[in-house]
Amino acid sequence: MSPESQAFEAIRWENNQLALLDQRKLPLEETWISHDQVEQVVDSIRDMVVRGAPAIGITAAYGVAIAAKCQYQQHQLQWKSSIEADLEKLAGSRPTAINLFWAIDRMRAVIGNLPDDVDPFAALVSEAQLIHQEDIQANLTMGDLGADLIKQSDKLGMGVITHCNTGTLATGGYGTALGVIRSAHRDGAIGQVFADETRPWLQGARLTAWELCKDGIPVTLNADGAAAHLMSTGKIGWVIVGSDRITANGDVANKIGTYSLAVLAKYHGVKFMVVAPTSTFDMSLSSGADIPIEERSGDEVLTIGERAIAPAGCAAFNPVFDVTPAALVDAIVTEKGVIETPTLASVAAVVSAA
Ligand code: MRU
Repeated sequence: MSPESQAFEAIRWENNQLALLDQRKLPLEETWISHDQVEQVVDSIRDMVVRGAPAIGITAAYGVAIAAKCQYQQHQLQWKSSIEADLEKLAGSRPTAINLFWAIDRMRAVIGNLPDDVDPFAALVSEAQLIHQEDIQANLTMGDLGADLIKQSDKLGMGVITHCNTGTLATGGYGTALGVIRSAHRDGAIGQVFADETRPWLQGARLTAWELCKDGIPVTLNADGAAAHLMSTGKIGWVIVGSDRITANGDVANKIGTYSLAVLAKYHGVKFMVVAPTSTFDMSLSSGADIPIEERSGDEVLTIGERAIAPAGCAAFNPVFDVTPAALVDAIVTEKGVIETPTLASVAAVVSAA
């Protein structure tokens, strides 16, 4: 990683095993979990030991390498057909982040080119490591592009709001939206950083605040419902968020609550920036209406930690993503360039660029 990257990691390949920092335990405990079976990797993605679209994709890529090792040991020449069930299990772990399916497809393409009679483990580990490194590089590039966009805007030096966690914990390292915030802070281009707590899983409170505190970047935590008031004070120049899937027309799926922020930003004249690598684009979908939105257990809404915060028997609705229409997005920053006021044509031009 480059010197401006973070001193901590959340995904490590060590001793031929995948080690993940358990994000369910942060910020109170820094515990690592090792994985040498594909089922463990599936469980860790589904149960949110690891989360964030690019991080899920990288984890799945290492999961494919682990699966291949086991299948080759058990089935030798038949490993390519027997691994298919493992790839399906990985693909079934979470539904919304397209990076998961993108990474599995990329690993599947490598599998297709490998011989049947040679142990595939080393080649697949190398590909997973390449995906991991490419993601870090993309984040560093997006960090600079996003910071430049802020410097060129009439919002230079103003406060920013971010939502969920889009940093090192959510990616291979450095982060997407949080990467832009890191780069913009380094360049003195932004004022105060406000992090939405991000109910119900509290990615903002538990993870974004933890990362920024580790970096020494001052962060102010606010309840999600405080965003409208905050924007009305005139302190905020940009909302900066990541994405789990962006469709061909520029609609953006991201953590529940992102759509509300985009509507509020439009009303208050605040700019709205989405930061996502091209691996987050799903050009097969024409609009965000077609994106599968994950619903998780209502317990995430009804409790905080182990403690119930609603009466027993109360129902809960827990969609964990929403879709922001392209018309509310001022810019999508990718590693291939910036898409301003996204349309079908401007998205295609940047995503298909070499
Ligand atoms: O449910 P999560 O925590 O996996 O959701 C993560 C987000 O919504 C992030 O904003 C998104 O994946 C972009 S992360 C670079």
